[in-house]
Amino acid sequence: MAVDQIRFDDGAAYERYMGGWSRLVGKTFLDWLAPASGLRWLDVGCGGGAFTQLLVEGHAPASVHGIDPSLDQLKFARARLAARGAQFKSADAQAQPFADDTFDAAVMPLVIFFVPDPAKGVSEMARVVRPGGYVAAYAWDLPGGGFPYEAVKVELRELGMETTLPPSPDASDFGALRELWTGAGLEAVETRDILVQHVYSGFDEYWSTVLLGPSTGPRLKALMPDVAAQFQARLHARLPVDASGRIVCTARANAIKGRLPDAKSGQNFELQAAR
Ligand SMILES: C[S@@+](CC[C@H](N)C(=O)[O-])C[C@H]1O[C@@H](n2cnc3c(N)ncnc32)[C@H](O)[C@@H]1O
Repeated sequence: MAVDQIRFDDGAAYERYMGGWSRLVGKTFLDWLAPASGLRWLDVGCGGGAFTQLLVEGHAPASVHGIDPSLDQLKFARARLAARGAQFKSADAQAQPFADDTFDAAVMPLVIFFVPDPAKGVSEMARVVRPGGYVAAYAWDLPGGGFPYEAVKVELRELGMETTLPPSPDASDFGALRELWTGAGLEAVETRDILVQHVYSGFDEYWSTVLLGPSTGPRLKALMPDVAAQFQARLHARLPVDASGRIVCTARANAIKGRLPDAKSGQNFELQAAR
């Protein structure tokens, strides 16, 4: 079966596949950002709301908006968070449906490589954030092999099968991220990597999870039964298994943060609620 595009058409499946990973990396990212409470947040490419939930539960926001082009992801996010005051809209990172200077902080969690024109996506975040506010992102280090299910991709490659890539796979590289942030006029730009680890009870749990992935699932489901059995054996041998048979996976994301220059004083200041 030809798979030429990664589709996010099942919010619940995506949550099982990536939700745990999203929360792990999002939590470390927010510790690094160390935002004040009372901010107006925009979550760009909010998906099922895994990062939005961290904001709502841990950072007492004044408001949170999430945008995503996938209606299935938004449905999941609304079911999870609409009652907590978060608001969600169907929209693309490249055309954000908000007036200039609407937010104190805009974040793009695990999304930049899905945006066909990442520079446009970042400049849109810079437009809708007020002077002095934050624009930040993190994304799996795809060029450096940091994707949580990298082992599946490597095994597929060994079989001569191309894994479906997002439209801008190199955008999560540190050099590319820095260029995007400085190109959008952001200042005080800082980067860091974030290493996270997730444990699966055994190969059965790992396999049933990767079958749910928008990039891995369609490829794996298309394998003929004999090839699939062989593939599973090779994959299991490649995975880091501990003494009790659990699979202990590590992933790495690259993170970036920067601030809009403060139009009034020309100075940067600590991330604070708008006065
Ligand atoms: C890997 S998921 C990340 C979801 C969520 N931010 C999280 O951390 O769990 C990527 C999300 O980006 C969304 N997306 C894809 N293309 C986009 C675009 N051009 N603009 C905004 N979001 C996009 C997808 O629909 C999907 O929900």
